[in-house]
Amino acid sequence: MTTLPFSAPRAVVFDAYGTLLDVAAAARRCRSALGDTADPLAATWRTKQLEYTWLRSLMGDYADFWQVTGDALDYAMAAHGLGDTALRGRLMDLYLHLDAYPDAQPTLRALRGAGLRTAILSNGSPDMLDAATGSAGLRPLLDAVLSVDPLRVYKPHPDVYRLACDALSLPAAEIVFVSANGWDAAGAAAFGFGVVWLNRAGAPRERLPAGPRAEAGSLAEVPPLLAAGQ
Ligand code: LAC
Repeated sequence: MTTLPFSAPRAVVFDAYGTLLDVAAAARRCRSALGDTADPLAATWRTKQLEYTWLRSLMGDYADFWQVTGDALDYAMAAHGLGDTALRGRLMDLYLHLDAYPDAQPTLRALRGAGLRTAILSNGSPDMLDAATGSAGLRPLLDAVLSVDPLRVYKPHPDVYRLACDALSLPAAEIVFVSANGWDAAGAAAFGFGVVWLNRAGAPRERLPAGPRAEAGSLAEVPPLLAAGQ
């Protein structure tokens, strides 16, 4: 019998952006306006968005994820020589209703079918998470949708991960955290969660003090990693 990496988990908590929700979908839907700039714009937008969360946390100057996402888009558009305000508005609207990855719903269903509770823990503001989980059809498959917003600090601050323990009334050892972001996987592991790093791109491991207990190439690979806990 194969030994699975997690013993008796009770809940699985997911990162949202990049993990369940495809952050490149907004620029992709504007490809007719953006042409070959769609992919580089999406990449700069995401990189700046994350940098601004870390920088604002360090600077003690929190602004919610909607503002940070808009600031990052402004930087990305300037960097790629784009000044169209209607396009900016369209990209921000699309970001509110990002596509879920195709295996997101089936994965959440499989986990719930195995008796596990499911949740999101995200940098996203409550309004953004409401809109995205609603339009992507994920809301009925989640026991909780948790935002960093009440804490006014971003991942990977340990207080953020504690939100999931408090909301689910579970110790960290009974929660498995799933993130496609290597740095988020490291932060969650440092806090004490057992972590699955959703390493879709086959990236090297982060050189940080804690790391994931398992890797998966897709969301669909997550339920089998947890099955022995049932
Ligand atoms: C989130 C970002 C990190 O959803 O993707 O928290």
